[in-house]
Amino acid sequence: MDRKRERGGWAMCFGVLGALTLAGAAMVSAPRAAEAQANEGRPQFNRACGRCHPNGEEDTGPAIRNKNKSVEEMTKIIRQGTGKMRAIGANKLSDADLAKVLTYLRSMHAVR
Ligand code: HEC
Repeated sequence: MDRKRERGGWAMCFGVLGALTLAGAAMVSAPRAAEAQANEGRPQFNRACGRCHPNGEEDTGPAIRNKNKSVEEMTKIIRQGTGKMRAIGANKLSDADLAKVLTYLRSMHAVR
């Protein structure tokens, strides 16, 4: 049995695994940054809007995905309400949380 060759084989194996791991890490890091940004307002959205627009889809309220509204329009809808949707004041959604919700809405193109 050639022990030296056997050890070399293991080293090769770990080397390949290491390279694959590094390549994988490099590949996911870019999309992850965008995802992290979009995810920033997800909890706030779920709390304030998710009940009626789950994931931006239709439920009690209409689908809001891909509506491409301006920040001004969206802010007005949220703060003053529209039709059957009641206004959501700062006591329910702070300005800071509203800003996070807008970031999340942008990721689903509800806001442009
Ligand atoms: C209690 C239920 C409810 C909640 C909570 C709610 N909405 Fe609505 N939303 C509605 C309903 C119902 C409508 C339809 C209003 C109408 O036209 O009569 C609506 C309409 C909208 C529209 C207009 C869609 C269009 O096509 O013009 C937008 C945008 C919207 N909601 C965004 C939000 C956002 C963002 C939040 C959270 C900050 C939110 N809504 C929270 C029920 C809700």
